[in-house]
Amino acid sequence: MHRRIFAPGALAAASLLLAVPASAAGVTAGAPGIGDPYYPSYGNGGYDVSHYDLRLTYQPKTDELEGTATIEARTTQDLSSFDLDFLLDVSEVRVNGARAGFTTSDQHELVITPKTPLAKGAPVTVVVRYRAVPSTKSAYGFTTWHRTPDGAVAADEPEAAWWWFPSNDHPLDKATYDVSVAVPDGTQVISNGTLQSAASKLGWTRYNWRQNKPQATYLATLAIGRFDITTGTSEGGVPIVNAYSKDLGDNDGAARASVERTGELVDWLSGYFGPYPFSSAGGYVPNTTTGFALETQTRVYYSPRQFASGSNTSVVVHELAHQWYGDAVSLKGWKDIWINEGFARYAQWLWSEHEGEGTTQALADYVYGSHPADDAFWTVKPGDPSPDDQFDAAVYDRGALAIQALRNEIGDDAFFAILKGWPKEHAYGNASVADFRRYAEQVSGKPLSALFDTWLFQPSKPTASAARTASLAPRAKASVQPKSWRKVEATNDVHGG
Ligand code: ARG
Ligand code: ZN
Repeated sequence: MHRRIFAPGALAAASLLLAVPASAAGVTAGAPGIGDPYYPSYGNGGYDVSHYDLRLTYQPKTDELEGTATIEARTTQDLSSFDLDFLLDVSEVRVNGARAGFTTSDQHELVITPKTPLAKGAPVTVVVRYRAVPSTKSAYGFTTWHRTPDGAVAADEPEAAWWWFPSNDHPLDKATYDVSVAVPDGTQVISNGTLQSAASKLGWTRYNWRQNKPQATYLATLAIGRFDITTGTSEGGVPIVNAYSKDLGDNDGAARASVERTGELVDWLSGYFGPYPFSSAGGYVPNTTTGFALETQTRVYYSPRQFASGSNTSVVVHELAHQWYGDAVSLKGWKDIWINEGFARYAQWLWSEHEGEGTTQALADYVYGSHPADDAFWTVKPGDPSPDDQFDAAVYDRGALAIQALRNEIGDDAFFAILKGWPKEHAYGNASVADFRRYAEQVSGKPLSALFDTWLFQPSKPTASAARTASLAPRAKASVQPKSWRKVEATNDVHGG
């Protein structure tokens, strides 16, 4: 089930044609989109953000969020005006200290006109003051701000930032963050990175979180509620901060039995992917009714439903794998989603093999064998799935199958060198599927266009002979379901909204 009422891509493309301002002589408006064909209006053109400083106050009783965002950026062109992506009500905007004009156009475009145009290459400080009830705001017919009985949660992909801070909302523009939120005493605030301090004054406690490594906007998260926070350090030395809503009911034990293994699993994944790329790790389980999990940077979001049928280390492995594949190395465009989901799924397969619940080869054979050639599963191209199928099971399962095919083609030495080398090659940056293919060709010394085309870019089931070439089982193996299968697939409850 798709939670969107209509496709943002199509709608945004239509409204963009109207929104692009005619550029008169000397007038240079920043583009209202960063240029992603899947989501033409997401992100913006003309500047590059280096830091977000969010100083907010939230009242759970009324869902009122108010505060100030200070954005440090640098212009990449002359700018008469520029956009931020945002949905909340703005009371004031300042650019380099001076009050600026602003309007809201389209569904999430805050258009800012500085008093004097900005020159290309100049540092710029943008201050946005705002106040709103985020749950009342929607774009394209949906909201991803979720109220809970004692607070709220912002965690979704690709849209989450609009409901709590103005941003250049696209993974291409990564930045560091300070997130400071005051809440009534007795309520906690969870966000990314490390908790710098928390202090109470006049009935309100302010939590200060810092993310000191570049982070994509959709990986910024905010949760407010009554949480039990646990801390520790992994054997490998990674500081761990986890948080559990005090309102998890029957799911509490299984949630803790899974998420408390974060340190052990981070260390285990480091063996495949290299050193953990951030200064802390952990996860949080709020009392939401949503069904999915999300790799929010350093502090993974888990819905309680992920633990409804018992502990689930597979989903923890998936989200932690994203810290390397997705977070440290982010996609260039949303069509590159396979690099995130294929590898996070493959990490679950490696964990399955480690646990003796089915080898990566058995899982790959099962994916290949259990979907007949006329199954719609094969019509989704993991290498370019379209916005509507961005999180289709095929991106995950066929995506991981493609990785096993790659491994069989190039051999384990090259394959594991790539698994570890890739996060280092592009640490804290962005890369595309084409970049990955070139990197794999360089490390393995083999041409891989045909293999990538067959397994990632054709809207059909690879033939038995292609499967044989990639050392996959040529015949249906649908009857041999690996023991881990259901747990692995349970993390797929991503379409539950
Ligand atoms: N990247 C997430 C995962 O780990 C998928 C989130 C999909 N978003 C959603 N609203 N269902 O699988
Ligand atoms: Zn994922």
